[in-house]
Amino acid sequence: MSVPLRGRGHCEADVLVVGTGVAGLTAALGAAGAGRSVQLLTKGELTSGSSPWAQGGVAAAMGAGDSPELHAADTVAAGAGLVDPEVAEIVARDGVLAIRRLVEIGAELDRGARGELSLGREAAHSRHRIVHAGGDSTGAELVRALGRRVAGHPRIRILEHAFAERVALGDGGVAGLVVRHGDGRRALHRASRVVLATGGLGQLYRYTTNPPEATGDGLLLAAAAGARLVDVEFVQFHPTALAVAADPLPLLTEALRGEGATLVDERGERFLAAEHPAAELAPRDVVARAIWRRQAQGHRVFLDARAAVGERFPRRFPSVFEACRSAGLDPRIEAMPVVPAAHYHMGGVAVDDRGRTSIGGLWACGEVSATGVHGANRLASNSLLEALVFGARVADSLDSHAGDRLRGRFEAASAAGCDARAAAPGLRREVRELAWERLGLERDRAGLELALARLSEAWLELPEGASEVRSLVAAATLLGAAALRREESRGAHRRADFPVARAEWRFRQFLEVELGARGPQCRFEPRPALEQVPA
Ligand code: SIN
Repeated sequence: MSVPLRGRGHCEADVLVVGTGVAGLTAALGAAGAGRSVQLLTKGELTSGSSPWAQGGVAAAMGAGDSPELHAADTVAAGAGLVDPEVAEIVARDGVLAIRRLVEIGAELDRGARGELSLGREAAHSRHRIVHAGGDSTGAELVRALGRRVAGHPRIRILEHAFAERVALGDGGVAGLVVRHGDGRRALHRASRVVLATGGLGQLYRYTTNPPEATGDGLLLAAAAGARLVDVEFVQFHPTALAVAADPLPLLTEALRGEGATLVDERGERFLAAEHPAAELAPRDVVARAIWRRQAQGHRVFLDARAAVGERFPRRFPSVFEACRSAGLDPRIEAMPVVPAAHYHMGGVAVDDRGRTSIGGLWACGEVSATGVHGANRLASNSLLEALVFGARVADSLDSHAGDRLRGRFEAASAAGCDARAAAPGLRREVRELAWERLGLERDRAGLELALARLSEAWLELPEGASEVRSLVAAATLLGAAALRREESRGAHRRADFPVARAEWRFRQFLEVELGARGPQCRFEPRPALEQVPA
């Protein structure tokens, strides 16, 4: 059955924003506030995605004795040599304004007795600077406050269950998006500005803290349109997911360690102090790998918050408390079993300091983008911050763009009528296991090559309509290729066969993608000569 494209008025807007997390909501509100008509698309519902799951908070230099300069310095230090210091400064400086804007739109942030913002501490931050809401429900509160504004805005049209399949290109750049709607119809949505805010790819891994929607769709969308990607090999594993039989795994926020909770093995022995002077508050990659190694030696690892949090647990960490209680645990009186799990993708669509990609008319913000602020290891609670800051910067840079003449015609496509989440469950499971084993906390050449060989076969096995599995296979392929090429260990990227950081690899790997019959093929930018690499 062929399906006609929908009417012009219905399918046309000044700006299309894909994704309704904090980045997408912020960009949509900013664009509409500047008088533009916006279509805001989500493959799920308005409140789907990773943002509402974010616990810890938003890092911002709001406290006495803190400054954006200190915050930027911590960000650079955590990023293992690959953070762009100018972007870190932008994010830290604009972050203070972003918090003020949140207050203006009615976000209810946690406060102390005198009405001052209550600031938590997380690993590798030199100050207490984590702004939080609802104890450990910061993302949910931000999405609530932003979502209420978006839902009431006369220039924003929200389209739920709308899967962006392809960026339509015209002579001058972006011309819109080909979108499959929940009832299976495909339509071309025309706009000369498209903002990708599609989130991350945590679902690529067997163990993750990310919701089912986090399948890396934006990476494939942008790559297929010819946009440059960068830092794709860097995936952050959160040290403390609750080790229970659940998928995804519940997150035990790092703020627990910020309050003094300790990591112990089954004998009650702490082991982090031997790994790093900051012990439990060492950078996230250090803590995650230390736990992983301990477990590989046959130990079990627990987060013990009995002394540090104790009876305050239900009030200070209500979401974590609820997750523990659902698993039959009481963290006031027993330690919580933990395991590292995929949590955040530092890499993504390469953007400049306004969120512009290498394709005219295409912007990206939030986890799908790679601004350069996270480097090889993101500092905790810098992601909601980056989403707020870059969502606003994207909206401010949507200047006129004329690339709206289509190159070629779009055929009216057949209705697949397929539930992307349910499609190809066996292949989805297999790819997630493969990624966990071969593209996970520790990688090596043999494992990466094996994974890439299987992924190119998997590409050929993808059934029609399995959009999410297609995204996962593509993301795994790009990640595997970038990880194979980076012959060193740096931040979250650990190669067993190249166990240390190497000076000649201190650069960000940019790549472009060609979609061939056997899946995505990467073309990497040539490696700079050693003398061109910053010391
Ligand atoms: C957490 O609450 O530990 C997560 C915060 C983050 O990933 O930035």
